[in-house]
Amino acid sequence: MMLDPYEIRKDFPILKRKINNHPLIYFDSAATSQKPRQVIEAIKNFYENCNANVHRGVHTLSQEASELYENAHEEVAKFINAKGMEEIVFVRGTTEAINLVAYAWALRSLKREDEVLVTLMEHHSNIVPWESLSKINGFQVKYVGVNNDGTLNYEVFENAISERTRIVCLPHISNVTGGINDVKKVVKMAHEHGALVLVDGAQSVPHLPVDVKDLDIDFLAFSGHKMLGPTGIGVLYGKHEILEEMEPFHGGGAMIKEVSFNTITRRCSISWNDLPWKFEAGTPNICGGVGLMAAIKYLKGIGMEAVRAHERMLTGYAMRRMKECEKVRVYGPKDASAKCGIIPFNVDELSSHDVALFFDSHAIMIRSGFHCAQPLHEKFKLKSSARASFYIYNTREEIDRFIEVLKEIAGF
Ligand code: ALA
Repeated sequence: MMLDPYEIRKDFPILKRKINNHPLIYFDSAATSQKPRQVIEAIKNFYENCNANVHRGVHTLSQEASELYENAHEEVAKFINAKGMEEIVFVRGTTEAINLVAYAWALRSLKREDEVLVTLMEHHSNIVPWESLSKINGFQVKYVGVNNDGTLNYEVFENAISERTRIVCLPHISNVTGGINDVKKVVKMAHEHGALVLVDGAQSVPHLPVDVKDLDIDFLAFSGHKMLGPTGIGVLYGKHEILEEMEPFHGGGAMIKEVSFNTITRRCSISWNDLPWKFEAGTPNICGGVGLMAAIKYLKGIGMEAVRAHERMLTGYAMRRMKECEKVRVYGPKDASAKCGIIPFNVDELSSHDVALFFDSHAIMIRSGFHCAQPLHEKFKLKSSARASFYIYNTREEIDRFIEVLKEIAGF
């Protein structure tokens, strides 16, 4: 079943905007997606009718807010086929989810002789926490190289995993090339060596069906704002038994069962709350959770298979049409079916920021720079790249307009 982007567009108020007298074309959904009125309404309704703190009051509003917030966890659990809400921790976004695993699990579990395996295609958020922690714990961060088109070589990957590997980190989809990694294959290899697997799902959960049970992932990190939800809300999925054994990341209210002062030792003895609250210290982003729940309901209404099919069609079409422009170089896998809707490119020797600014003058929003993935650009021997990325509200007509402007740029 294909979705109808023209029907979908009616739900996105921002897409009615004009910039520089041109209709807005939003090709930067890999950075953040636009929001449908259903999500905007859910947020408005929460603040207008249900606002209260959660898990802290017996009054009606607090009960209602708590129920909504818990329902949001349940909705996420069903969306990725987790066992239940105890496996769903709400965080600020993918970055915080990865930092949670690094600081709550790796900091306590890893020793000097251990290795953390990451790929060269990682977003900086899956590199920096590991490099920082290795300076404290002394463990090694080992990088798995990538092929010239930015795809993984699974043989090289397998050879890199050893008995010293304690965790393997990889993106499900590269935020630079859009290439889809065979997570199931990597999980199997890692588990054979007793290593855990942390998947950065920031670019996959919004765009294709993701089933954590089927993939057998140990940790999955993703962000609400890239999947029609608000900013400041994201998810760490973790297998129940692993989260249960972990110590909390942040300490404070709501993540404890008891904090009791012992008059003899003059210390407090503390016991942790149940999952997932053990990892959600302080007043959480309640409204963010409510917005994320509305976003998931919206995506489920379309169907993730339809989302994937639409983006695959757009990506194939755009890649075919980009070949018409001689001076344009496109990076990453050549086959659109091996990718999601992300296309990195450069125009001759023009800087990617100049290219993005030219597109902007025609109301076409694309990203430029390193996209928080400098090592992969270094591998490609690039100073930067321009990046067009698509979502459910984009159309072939918009791509035609994009190609017209691209040809104008290439003509300079
Ligand atoms: N990580 C986001 C991107 O790729 C911000 O643009």
